[in-house]
Amino acid sequence: MNIVMFGPPGAGKGSVSAFLVGEFSYPHIAAGDIIREESRKPQNKVRAYMEKGELVPDTVIMQLVGSRLRQPDCREGFILDGFPRTIVQAEFLERQRIPIDIVINLEVDEDAIVDRLSGRRMDPKTGQIYNLNTMELPEGVDREKLVQRPDDKPEVIRKRIEVYKKQTSPVIEYYRERNVLLNIDGNPELGQVVGSVREALQKVRE
Ligand code: AP5
Repeated sequence: MNIVMFGPPGAGKGSVSAFLVGEFSYPHIAAGDIIREESRKPQNKVRAYMEKGELVPDTVIMQLVGSRLRQPDCREGFILDGFPRTIVQAEFLERQRIPIDIVINLEVDEDAIVDRLSGRRMDPKTGQIYNLNTMELPEGVDREKLVQRPDDKPEVIRKRIEVYKKQTSPVIEYYRERNVLLNIDGNPELGQVVGSVREALQKVRE
């Protein structure tokens, strides 16, 4: 089954994907991670876009995600997180004959998005994501050693939300018309959101 995780910045796409990966044994392909990896290369063309909260050009991300989806581990299915983010990208998948079976659209209020993104921190050693605003830090985790993503600064968060509304939200209608859209309330605590997604996927598989 080919699954797209959709939703505004900070909706919980990455967090929910992490749970689904354990259940489906599909690869988790996160466009943001691919871009961050690319941004570490010398003279890359993506870092400036990301740090401003803008989308990288369609041609660039389509080439990167397209080649990842053609890897053999994607044959049985994948969890695609953060792609497509424009109609051009959605049409690209169709043109490449990469079918999408289900689009999980996490709906989250704007206040919660700002709260989540401004509190998000990462352990640079393990890559584990935490949140200072919405979750208790587990015992033994040193708050001082956690790092913040450069695009989680307040002015960049505002820009990302604006970009989502203008450029990305039209993709919802695109998938609604194709009958693969599943809206999930992403506002409750993470365990509850994961439960709703599981339940919805179960119904689709039956
Ligand atoms: P990307 O990394 O994909 O950023 P994003 O979509 O803005 O998504 P986030 O990773 O910020 O949020 P998320 O929904 O995964 O939430 P998470 O689970 O982490 O993209 C970064 C950049 O790359 C883009 O701005 C763009 O420049 C570029 N890019 C990427 N894809 C592109 C594309 N297709 N085209 C062009 N450019 C592209 O959760 C967030 C926080 O909230 C965490 O701290 C988490 O612990 C907490 N949290 C999660 N769920 C809950 C909950 N239910 N309750 C309380 N807290 C929660």
